[in-house]
Amino acid sequence: MTRGEVGPHPDRTGAAATPELVAAVRDRLAATGQDPDPPGVARAVRDVGGVLGREELGRVVRAVRDELLGAGPLQPLLEAPDVTDVLVEGGRVWVDRGCGLERVPVDVGGPERVRALAVRLAAAGGQRLDDAAPVVDARLPDGTRLHAVLPPVAEPGTLLSLRVHRPGGYSLGDLVRLGAVAPVVEQVLRALVARRANLVVSGATGTGKTTLLAALLSLVPGDERIVCIEEAAELRPDHPHVVRLVARRPNVEGAGEIDLAALVRHALRMRPDRVVLGECRGADVREVLSALNTGHDGGCVTLHANAVADVPARLEALGALAGMTPRAVAAQAASALDAVVHLRRTAGIRHVAEVAAVSGGADGLVVDRVLACGPRGELEVGAAWPVVARRWGLDPVVT
Ligand SMILES: Nc1ncnc2c1ncn2[C@@H]1O[C@H](COP(=O)(O)OP(=O)(O)O)[C@@H](O)[C@H]1O
Ligand SMILES: [Mg+2]
Repeated sequence: MTRGEVGPHPDRTGAAATPELVAAVRDRLAATGQDPDPPGVARAVRDVGGVLGREELGRVVRAVRDELLGAGPLQPLLEAPDVTDVLVEGGRVWVDRGCGLERVPVDVGGPERVRALAVRLAAAGGQRLDDAAPVVDARLPDGTRLHAVLPPVAEPGTLLSLRVHRPGGYSLGDLVRLGAVAPVVEQVLRALVARRANLVVSGATGTGKTTLLAALLSLVPGDERIVCIEEAAELRPDHPHVVRLVARRPNVEGAGEIDLAALVRHALRMRPDRVVLGECRGADVREVLSALNTGHDGGCVTLHANAVADVPARLEALGALAGMTPRAVAAQAASALDAVVHLRRTAGIRHVAEVAAVSGGADGLVVDRVLACGPRGELEVGAAWPVVARRWGLDPVVT
């Protein structure tokens, strides 16, 4: 990569904003209890004997804020618009900007500083990280997902895996313009939302499920009430009436957990017009299928799957976690769900790759692929399309 594109911010490496000065200013702020706002930092710089110009002071303010409130030297990476993952292994830093991992020249300091950063980030996510609890999985306040492991469990040094949360504010029209949604798929999606179909948005991690789901919910008429149930408050549909229920992990004593399944049950008592499960990933599948089978239509869930053909097996596997037999899952899913919209990332391009209709058959669940789309708009129409198109109120002739 070219230096400066994602690496340390070029104007944050000026001589005045040395790590030593930043550390001294940080300690001074901590000692005085002063907020890291520009006047506070300016005072702290003076207190520690520094003399800075306005521009350099700006750099120190930024660096101190990143250290105290953000992810320190990793913060500029987390803010780079194309970065989805930041990984630290001991002193080495890697990012994924959509084309695989790249090493970046960021100085994260020695083992103690990396460890301190991990501990501080875990605390920002409400979790504890120390020798007694050396592994943590947390959400930072901005939605970034943090996974951290301390040595000696991690070898050779502290491991940090940060997944940036940036389900962008894309409308369905934006996704069409970006080539992520073929025009015929756009028509299908609009029809499904308007018909209050129950939808599964499937795909691997980072394929744009949450982004597409938010775009679809933005199409829901403004007089409907959407209740979103999520692990972290990610979905931001452009809609006037969205309420969010966010799951809570147990505290260190193991108390206080509110899981997704419980939240789905609560959502049903909140007069929802649409129940949305941000990500169906466990025993919550039982609650959501049962909700969608009991008159709550227009519901949506996202599901981790590699292709539409894998969706039945994936639902069965999740159902097993809830003590459901494969037959029960198939029967429930066949009557609860109407369509699967599958996303894929091909050569860095995220796009809707498959649309399938869900129905019940002799073997229980039938997920019939009716449209397949390539990353450049190539379209393949399945044999069942004409029948399904009529069922969804669409023109069966695809042009
Ligand atoms: N069509 C798209 N084009 C470009 N970037 C996208 C597109 N869809 C999603 N993204 C970006 O990809 C990342 C992952 O998207 P997200 O919706 O969170 O994926 P998932 O829910 O499948 O893990 C986000 O940074 C998001 O802004
Ligand atoms: Mg997601």
